Amino acid sequence: METLEALRTRRSVRRYTGEAIPKADLETIVDAGRLAATGSNRQPWVFVVVTDRATIAQFKLAGAWMEKAGAVIAVVMDPVSRWWVEDGSAAIENMLLASVALGYGACWVEGDALPLEGEFKSLLGVPAEKRLMALIPVGVAAETPRTPEKKALALVLHWEKY
Ligand SMILES: Cc1cc2nc3c(=O)[nH]c(=O)nc-3n(C[C@H](O)[C@H](O)[C@H](O)COP(=O)(O)O)c2cc1C
Repeated sequence: METLEALRTRRSVRRYTGEAIPKADLETIVDAGRLAATGSNRQPWVFVVVTDRATIAQFKLAGAWMEKAGAVIAVVMDPVSRWWVEDGSAAIENMLLASVALGYGACWVEGDALPLEGEFKSLLGVPAEKRLMALIPVGVAAETPRTPEKKALALVLHWEKY
């Protein structure tokens, strides 16, 4: 799939069949995260790929629908790096697009995971000084999500001046 097509067709997918995802595909997705732009090339990230069903089931605390993901990628960031939020965001978007390109559905789960960061860090053995920025459930889609209303290009594109 072409980059622009992946970008245009990406939607948050929150229903999955529960099928497992081949390890090679998960590596391709994480590799896309690894290659993201990163402030001063610090690359302050570690991506924890969870495929164990019992561990994935624990993530339902942040959303029952996550239980049927084929895998969940936890994005762990080092907040010592000045640009850790921007870097993490770039890596997450790359991984969402790579998931689409491989034919999977995925979702950026941050708001629902943040209140449970402590619990999830313990579950995954994440060191105290690191941040668990987001979870990315990935799976074979069991829904065609509708496109949420997006602002029109003419509204957000200003030429030359604000
Ligand atoms: C920073 C951020 C946090 C998000 N957190 C959640 C979340 O906790 N749970 C969830 O279901 N979706 C979450 N999303 C997905 C958004 O709800 C979704 O991207 C938005 O509604 C637009 O839909 P689309 O991704 O299909 O274009 C998050 C997205 C971003 C960028």
